[in-house]
Amino acid sequence: MDHFQIKDGVLHAEDVPLPLIADEVGTPVYVYSRATLERHARVFTEGLRDVPSKLIAFAVKSNPNLAVLKVLQGQDFGADVVSGGELMRALAAGMTPDKIVFSGVGKTRKELALGLEKQIGQFNIESREEGSELAELAAARGEQANACLRINPDVDAKTHEKISTGKAENKFGIPLVHAREAFAELAALDGLNLRGVAVHIGSQLQDLEPLETAFAKLGALVADLRAAGHNITHVDLGGGLGVPYKTGENPPSPAEYGAMVARATKDWGVHLTFEPGRVIAGNAGILLTRVVRVKRGGNGPPFVIVDAAMNDLARPALYGAWHDFDAVAPTGERMTANIVGPICETGDTFARDRECDAVQSGDLAVFRTAGAYGATMASSYNSRGFVAEVLVDGDKYAVVADRIAAAAIMDAERVPEWLA
Ligand code: LLP
Repeated sequence: MDHFQIKDGVLHAEDVPLPLIADEVGTPVYVYSRATLERHARVFTEGLRDVPSKLIAFAVKSNPNLAVLKVLQGQDFGADVVSGGELMRALAAGMTPDKIVFSGVGKTRKELALGLEKQIGQFNIESREEGSELAELAAARGEQANACLRINPDVDAKTHEKISTGKAENKFGIPLVHAREAFAELAALDGLNLRGVAVHIGSQLQDLEPLETAFAKLGALVADLRAAGHNITHVDLGGGLGVPYKTGENPPSPAEYGAMVARATKDWGVHLTFEPGRVIAGNAGILLTRVVRVKRGGNGPPFVIVDAAMNDLARPALYGAWHDFDAVAPTGERMTANIVGPICETGDTFARDRECDAVQSGDLAVFRTAGAYGATMASSYNSRGFVAEVLVDGDKYAVVADRIAAAAIMDAERVPEWLA
């Protein structure tokens, strides 16, 4: 359920009509709904009510906007960060360091040091090499870093190959077969408080079965590690729960996910961390765009050319992802169209042969379910500038990220004297 609904014939974000935002902020613009973010946070938390000891750490990569992080901080969420930049954002949004988990396969020495300096709650270590580097840095400070070892369980998440992370051939984590040995080696280091294991097998999962398989493997590993004398108090189960992008898609609900987790982990006796991203932010945002013109005359359906492009919303171009396309003021008429952006490559196509609301030049429309992995993946390709972001709360709204004009980006560039 989200708060982007038609009222009096016009699509609203909560109580704000989208044409108002388009007029005042311009298009393309991402629009987030605070009520939807909070609802998703609550539903996810309630789904985990049978998990006694837990931290829900929002995957910042899915939507790092400071205002969005602030809303989730208000819901008692922590943050899963994968870079120094994300770490600084989580802190700037008021998240307490103990609720910050640092994941990521390539944390630099500088980023590890930053995590230590900021006294974050946990590092998820992805290799022996990273573990010893962290141990060395922590020991030099006279400290022990709290850490979990990320395991690669070799489970097929059955999602898009580019967002699948738990197969043996993926770059993430320590292969399960080497986990015991690596754990023992790292647990012996002075600078580490290696207290558990972590897993994340992929994103936009449509089925709980791969997750349950991975968790079962992890449970067996926890038992083995304990038998070997290790003190295991923490397990991080990652993120991955999918959301419906189109009608008919029916991914598992947070309640079903929570029930499975409670079942799978009931004998573990550990503190659990969760790292949801998409399921919290996905349907809490739309990308509002204006139709530049409708171009007819090709072999197939007309091209609806919108002012948003692959630089603003990369998912269709990158993963062939589907985003519903709806008119802001639908007339009831329908059309079949190719929906494209203005960028000069065919990849800049949002949808082919899509049956959708009929739109014409100047009309406003939205791409739905754009709150996760939307603005955060934007670029300035074709010198288009960076898209703006707005947060709605009831009948008020605020620009929470300015549009960065192409001119401002150009201002950061120099022509060296020897070329002038
Ligand atoms: N934890 C870790 C370690 C992750 O790598 C990710 C996502 C998450 C948590 C959050 O997963 P979620 O709950 O959002 O599924 N750009 C792609 C998605 C990439 C996901 C990367 N990792 C997309 O637009 O579909």
